[in-house]
Amino acid sequence: MGRTPLIAGNWKMYKTEEQAEDYIQALLPRVSVSDGVDVAICVPFTDLRAMIDSARGSRVEVYAQNMHHEPEGAFTGEISAAMLAGWCDLTLVGHSERRHIFGERDDEVGRKFVASLAHGLSVILAVGETSDERDEGNTFDVVDRQLDAVFAELAGPPAVDAWVIAYEPVWAIGTGRTATPEQAQEVVAHIKQHVRSRFPDGSPRVLYGGSVTAANAASLFAQADIDGALVGGVSLRAEEFGVIVAAAEAAAGSRGAA
Ligand code: PGA
Repeated sequence: MGRTPLIAGNWKMYKTEEQAEDYIQALLPRVSVSDGVDVAICVPFTDLRAMIDSARGSRVEVYAQNMHHEPEGAFTGEISAAMLAGWCDLTLVGHSERRHIFGERDDEVGRKFVASLAHGLSVILAVGETSDERDEGNTFDVVDRQLDAVFAELAGPPAVDAWVIAYEPVWAIGTGRTATPEQAQEVVAHIKQHVRSRFPDGSPRVLYGGSVTAANAASLFAQADIDGALVGGVSLRAEEFGVIVAAAEAAAGSRGAA
């Protein structure tokens, strides 16, 4: 972990506003002393306001999970980056559930990425291969294709240092089948190299996501290139999420001391 690690929770479609309030009250004392680690939670749109109000002044940032790339229009049920920008500072785009359940194409994810930046939002871009793609030896090609689709949408010189990319192998998401630290490190390092080959002047933070738990977090954070985690199921439980934040803090501390 060369950069300040980011531990981001992804609640997916879980928690009513009331449940969200209970959660943040349970989480805040667990992360109040953590230092040197950025902490965020990507919540459903309906939880944004309550979570932002409750987390104000704390070290927990509240992010969205998705947005539409057009600023406005006849897109029933959608919310634009322009609308989100008044609420939060960052959104997740390209999560595999968006790609595989809702059929989002690589180019749409690229447009979302660019629209978010254009409206002053930071972005966590999720990429990753399916089990078949890995078995066929296509992991690097898949993440390169997903990244290149985003690069193709960029207009001006990008602020690559501000980017956050999450490597999330689809076969590891919600399955309990975490990538080994070595598998995660290999692809995260490849992603950094691929970005560097296009934009030599910057380096994004690259997270790992996919069945991260309190038990396996430390071994993932011990890897040279992994800058944190995007945590799904376990982020729903404040106590365990706090343990993952503490593991990142310990890893960052031992790096600093080394
Ligand atoms: P998981 O989900 O931690 O439950 O595997 C990760 C994610 O969807 O971002």
